[in-house]
Amino acid sequence: MTTLKLNGRDVSFDVDPETPLLWVIRDQLGLTGTKFGCGIGMCGACTVHLNGRAVRSCILPAAAADGAAITTIEGLDPNGQHPLQQAWIETQAPQCGYCQSGQIMQAATLLQDFPQPTDKDIDSVMNGNLCRCMAYRRIRAAIKLAATRMGEEAGHE
Ligand code: FES
Ligand code: FES
Repeated sequence: MTTLKLNGRDVSFDVDPETPLLWVIRDQLGLTGTKFGCGIGMCGACTVHLNGRAVRSCILPAAAADGAAITTIEGLDPNGQHPLQQAWIETQAPQCGYCQSGQIMQAATLLQDFPQPTDKDIDSVMNGNLCRCMAYRRIRAAIKLAATRMGEEAGHE
C-alpha cells in the first residue's frame, strides 16, 4: 500500500510500486488535470509538485512518492485562483491548453526560486516544458504578470 498526501488529503492505493505516479493520479485517483505527453520525462506535461518542487510524474515511480505531499494543478489553489492561474487567464496564455497544467506547475517552482524572474531565469527553468502550440511568449508574459502581482501582494503584507 502506498500512502501520500494529495492536494492536502491523505490517500492510499495499491499499485505496482513501479507504476508511474502520473497514472495513479489520473486513473486511480481521478484527477485528470495532469497530462500525459511523452512519457519519458522530456516534455513537462505531467509536472506536479512533490514536497513543493516540480517533478515529472510520468517517470516517478509511485513508490518514490510514498509518504510525500503531492500537489497537482487541481490543488495549486483551492479556488483555482492562484496568481499564476489568474495571469494565465488574463494574458490568454493557452492555445490548445494541453501543456498548460505542467507549465503552471513548473512556473510555480520558478517563482519560488526567482520571485521577479528575468527572461533568462524563465528560459532556464521553463525550457524543458514544451508547447506544441508555441505559446512561449504568452507563457512568459503570464509568468511576469503573476510575479508582479505576487510582489505587490507581498509588499502589502
Ligand atoms: S509526459 Fe512526463 S515529461 Fe512528458
Ligand atoms: S497550448 Fe497547446 S501544447 Fe501548449
